Amino acid sequence: MEILRLLSSSLLLLLGLNLNSVGAFVPHPTNHRGQLGAVEATPVEEDGDPNSVSRRQAAELTFAAVGLGISFLGTREVDPQDYGLWGILPVGTYKKKKTIRETIVPGKLWTFDQKFGILDVQVPLRMTIVKLSDGGLFVYDPIAATAECLELVNEIVKEHGPIRHIVLGSVALEHKAYSGVFAQKFPEATIWLQKGQYSFPSNLPDSFLGFPVGRTKSMPSSPEEAPPEWNKDFDFLSLGPFISRDGAFGETVFFHRDTKTLLVTDTTVEVNEEVPPIYDADPAPLIYHARDTVTDNVPDTPEVRKKGWRRIVLFALYFNPAGIMVKDVDVALKERRPDINSDFLGIYPWDWVGDDIASFKAISGGPLVAPILQSLLLNRFPVESLDFAEKVSKWPFERIIPAHLKNNLKYTGKDYLNSFKFLTTSGVPAGYPKPVEADFKLLRDAEVGLVESGAIAEAPPLVGGEYSREEIIARTLYRCRDGICAPKAPL
Ligand SMILES: [Fe+2]
Repeated sequence: MEILRLLSSSLLLLLGLNLNSVGAFVPHPTNHRGQLGAVEATPVEEDGDPNSVSRRQAAELTFAAVGLGISFLGTREVDPQDYGLWGILPVGTYKKKKTIRETIVPGKLWTFDQKFGILDVQVPLRMTIVKLSDGGLFVYDPIAATAECLELVNEIVKEHGPIRHIVLGSVALEHKAYSGVFAQKFPEATIWLQKGQYSFPSNLPDSFLGFPVGRTKSMPSSPEEAPPEWNKDFDFLSLGPFISRDGAFGETVFFHRDTKTLLVTDTTVEVNEEVPPIYDADPAPLIYHARDTVTDNVPDTPEVRKKGWRRIVLFALYFNPAGIMVKDVDVALKERRPDINSDFLGIYPWDWVGDDIASFKAISGGPLVAPILQSLLLNRFPVESLDFAEKVSKWPFERIIPAHLKNNLKYTGKDYLNSFKFLTTSGVPAGYPKPVEADFKLLRDAEVGLVESGAIAEAPPLVGGEYSREEIIARTLYRCRDGICAPKAPL
């Protein structure tokens, strides 16, 4: 189904895994449940007389003119919640982005949530601001700099001083896409980029992506390379960057000693049935996803909203959860019911036939490493990822602020480390979230295609079994790009 293909491709693209170049795993219209299907080549039309404008060229010019016109109209910011560059990210195609500011520790720690996603699968995207003890502010993982967002940030600037550091703690596109524009709004700040940045489809220099020349720097590798005000207030550590053929995964986490807070980007999420406030103003996506089938006409009630949120989380984490049965394109088009729900022209291309509650509960109520990181990325580097989690777990934090899903998590270093135990043969301890294997189906299919195409390496053995640390490291592929190599753990 094209919609699922678009959703899967877009979300995997966030992690630098380009499925279209893989040419595998994409669900074929005649198959269900993500079975392998071939991608057909588009026939190339030959041009005729080189001196005349062919019909195809005329059509292209018309298309470009219409596109420019739409872009001009579409990028105008008429509302404080509008973000003119909304179309720049294939997974963030929403122009209106309400910003929700939350004070986590008065006078010291604030978070800012906006929605991001595609096809009504929207989850919170979060920026955190910390007050530096020497004065001024430290920003972690910027979000879209709408007029509303800037006003909320500037209220804090007015009281606590200028933004001195803007840190992009990740190479993931959904964080990077907003950081350059945000950085331009605060000329006094130094911008620090997680190592291993890349851009897609071509590897553009950082300045092309909006990062200001002259005050954009690479993330320090050690406290010795860091500004003194960082060392006064924080400990920090980088995971990776783990370079793949088309992308990378890398993350730098910060421990703020004063508030006992760990700032992470993607390495921790908590799944929780509480519907996030990003939906308060527009619950339509919850209603869309709360249906079991296209003919369901569901009312807007708190229970329905929770059901919709449950499914949105499953789509966001698995792309194609086990509980759905995808319909063929012609069937989905024939059955569309815009009179019941007009989103996507009334198309609802699947039925919920399985137990979404069990799938949701299995991953709820504790710190979780997202299934895609578990199955496609961190398991390619089990020793390095566990070493990282062990070092982080030594810091005495009592709170984790992740960049997605639930905010202000009350977990410690022990919890953080336990959530990484999927990299060991014994797995995460009982009581910690653990995905239902059936939900991994699409990601496992994707893994086969990505390994076969050479986009990612074969996963080495897990830690704690018959293989020694040395043997696992020997079976790990450490790739390099632009002089940056995936770091190898000490033997
Ligand atoms: Fe992220």
